[in-house]
Amino acid sequence: GEMVPWTGTTADVYSPVGMPDATGVWQRHLVGSYPVFGPTEAMAALDAAVAAYDNGRGEWPQMAVADRIACMETFIGKMLGQRTLVINLIMWEIGKNRADATKEFDRTVKYIYDTIDALKNMDRNSSRFRIEEGIIGQIRRSPIGVVLSMGPFNYPLNETYTTLIPAILMGNTILFKTPKHGSLLHYPLLEAFRTSFPKGVVNSLYGRGANVIPPVMQSGKVNVLTLIGSSKVADELQRQHPKLNRLRSILSLDAKNAAIILPDADLEVAVQECLLGSLSFNGQRCTAIKIIWAHRSVVDAFLARFCPAVSALKLGMPWADGAQITPLPEPGKTDYLTNIIHDAEAGGAKIMNEGGSEVSESLFRPAVVFPVKEGMKLYRDEQFGPVVPVVAYDDVEEFINYLITDDHGMQASIFGTDATAISALIDPLVNLVSRVNINAQCQRGPDTFPFTGRKDSAEGTLSVEDALRSFSIRSAVATKDT
Ligand code: G3H
Repeated sequence: GEMVPWTGTTADVYSPVGMPDATGVWQRHLVGSYPVFGPTEAMAALDAAVAAYDNGRGEWPQMAVADRIACMETFIGKMLGQRTLVINLIMWEIGKNRADATKEFDRTVKYIYDTIDALKNMDRNSSRFRIEEGIIGQIRRSPIGVVLSMGPFNYPLNETYTTLIPAILMGNTILFKTPKHGSLLHYPLLEAFRTSFPKGVVNSLYGRGANVIPPVMQSGKVNVLTLIGSSKVADELQRQHPKLNRLRSILSLDAKNAAIILPDADLEVAVQECLLGSLSFNGQRCTAIKIIWAHRSVVDAFLARFCPAVSALKLGMPWADGAQITPLPEPGKTDYLTNIIHDAEAGGAKIMNEGGSEVSESLFRPAVVFPVKEGMKLYRDEQFGPVVPVVAYDDVEEFINYLITDDHGMQASIFGTDATAISALIDPLVNLVSRVNINAQCQRGPDTFPFTGRKDSAEGTLSVEDALRSFSIRSAVATKDT
C-alpha cells in the first residue's frame, strides 16, 4: 500500500531476446532487476492487506460500490498513461510480438471497463424486495477478505489482472505475486495502484515464490487463493494453508486441448483455425490446441496443407513486422522441445514439416509431429511450446476415450460439416471439457464467456461476471415487515 525504498538483494531479469557475446557464447539481454523480498517483506505486505481489510470494517470493504468504481476509473486513467512502456516491457520480458503485446494491454483495459459495467448491473439488482410474506429481504454481494493472486508468464498483465481487478472491485484487499518472467512490466503500474486506492488495498510481492509464498499461506490469513498457472504449484500452495477447507481457490491451470477433424471437415477452415489455435504466441497459451486428431481418411490431405502453413510462419524478434514465432522466455525450453520430439521419433513418429530445430538458444522452428501415439510424451504432456502432435483415428470413440482418460478438461474443437455428426459429439464433450468450439480454435475470449475447466484444468470460474461472483459471497439482510 505504500512505496518502500529497497536496499536489499535484487535479481536480474533477462530477455528471451539475445545474441552471441564477444566470445561467441549466446547471451540473453539484461532488461532490469527486481527486489528479492524475503519472508519479512512478504509478511509486511500481508499485514498491510489484513489491516486494510480489518475484518470487513476497513475503508475499502465498506466503501460504496460507486466510490470503489470511481477509484478504479482513476486507476484506468493512470494505467493508460503507461501503455507504451508496459507494451514494450511485455515484448522484452516474454518475447510476445508487438501486435499480441498491444492486444494484451488493450484487452486488459477493456476487461476492467466490462467488469465495472457488470458490477454496476449486479449492484442495481441488490435492491430490497419482499422475499416472502412478512419479510423484506436484500441479497448483497460482500467481499471475502484477503486475496493472494498469482499470474502466469504468458499473459503476465492480462491474467494477473483477470483475477486482481474483480477481487479489488468486490471490496477485498490484495497481495499479488508477479510472475517470474513478466515482473518488470508491473512496476509502472504500482504507483497507479498506490495513488488510486486506499493504503493497503493492493500490495505487490516480488522475489522467489519459494521465499515469499509459504509464510503468507502458512499464516492462515489468506482467504482466497487465485492462481493462473500450473496444477503442481496450486497443489503445493493449497497444502501450505493450515485450514484448507476455509480457503477459497479460484484456479486456471494446465490443459491439453484436443481438436478433432471429422472426415467431411472443410480442411481449409481446419488448417487456418488449427494454425492459429496451436501456434499463436508460440503455443504458449493454456487454451492452445495441443493435440490434433484427424480421421485416417483425411489425415494426409490435412497434413499436406497444414505443414507448409506451419513452415511459412514468420520467425523474428517481437518488434519485427509480422513476426509470428518469437523467442521463448523459459531458459532451456528449446532443449526440452528437442527432447520431446526425439522421444516421439524413437516411437516411430516424424517431423512432417521443415521445423523442429533451434534457430538460437531461445528461438525454435515450429514442428508438426506425426503419427503421435499413446506412450509418447507428446501424447499427454502439455508441452506449452511450438510443437503440434497429430494423431490418426478411425472411430470418434478413440477421441472421446482420450478425453476421458486425460487428466485435463479445458477445451476441445470439432471440425466438420455434418451437423448431425457434430451434434452427436457436443453433448459428450461438454461433459468432459468446459468449452467446445465448432469449426473454431480453442480460446478464452470473449471475456464474458465462462473461463474454467474440469479435472486438473481449473477450480472455480472466471470471466467478467463469474469473477465478480467468485471473489464475493452472497450475503443477505432480512427485515421483518411489521
Ligand atoms: O493462457 C491462457 C489464456 O487464458 C489464453 O487466453 O485464449 O485469449 O489466448 P486466449
